[in-house]
Amino acid sequence: MIRHLLTGEEIGKVEFEKLIDLSREMKATRGTAKAVKPLADKSIGMIFAKSSTRTRVSFEVGIHELGGQAIYLDQSKTQMGRGETVPDTARVLSRYLGGIVIRTYKQSDIEELAQYSSCPIINALTDDYHPCQALTDMFTIYEKVGKFEGIKMAYLGDGASNMANSLMMASRIAGIHFEIGAPEEYKPSDAILNNTFGGSGTVSWTKDPAEAVKDADFIYTDVWVSMGFEEEAKERMRILDPYRLDMATLLKAKPGAMVMHCLPAHRGEEITDDVMESPNSIVFDEAENRLHVQKAIMATLIK
Ligand code: CP
Ligand code: NVA
Repeated sequence: MIRHLLTGEEIGKVEFEKLIDLSREMKATRGTAKAVKPLADKSIGMIFAKSSTRTRVSFEVGIHELGGQAIYLDQSKTQMGRGETVPDTARVLSRYLGGIVIRTYKQSDIEELAQYSSCPIINALTDDYHPCQALTDMFTIYEKVGKFEGIKMAYLGDGASNMANSLMMASRIAGIHFEIGAPEEYKPSDAILNNTFGGSGTVSWTKDPAEAVKDADFIYTDVWVSMGFEEEAKERMRILDPYRLDMATLLKAKPGAMVMHCLPAHRGEEITDDVMESPNSIVFDEAENRLHVQKAIMATLIK
């Protein structure tokens, strides 16, 4: 059976725990004789319709380290950019490739790609989800505190973004409490907020940023203007201004609360410089972990 990672929902509790263990193993054995090469003789396509620094490089490095070859495809330079359909592209590319990593706009394009592909499809971000980042974030939490139970993560900002959606899902599966501080205009989707995803975690939403960060062990934020939403920038800046993660807000969380951000950060907008540079910030460990977790994801899905 071909296995895809399209939303993150495909990873249930049992497999999530295995993924955490495998990610830890990938991290510990990196560059040693124990490092595994499950992608030997495989080529993995990487279709990108949006910009990327971390995702592109961590996937390319990860594929290389697992023994495979990465083929980067700027979507606009492929025939997709000239109107070749998703089903045709899927049926052609999956005859060559062992897997396809794709970053694009519409979630429906990824779903359609998977429907017609004979190799696994991995979502590297859409307007709706960013599962590789959210799974990495759960791994990072576990690495820092050694447990999920009893952990609260607060999220400030755009509660309807791909990151908010994926973190709601991943928090449920991991078993943490996730509280979103977001305005009415950018409140989390009811459908995702109310779905347990078969996990023991809990998710809540408040309009009050101080309430969201109260007793939080981790505080997460993301850009106010996600890729593809640039036309709404002015309006978003105005409405999301009270949700900035600054020192005063950080001090309302648990003492020593750790700060997370998927990056890239827009310093001075959703997060201030002093918070980014504070000892509480674990954003670069989080970025590094993308490599280890994605290696675990590929080793699990691409057979
Ligand atoms: N966090 C993340 O996905 O970063 P990039 O946009 O640089 O890939
Ligand atoms: N929400 C952001 C995440 C970037 C990694 C965006 O979609 O632009």
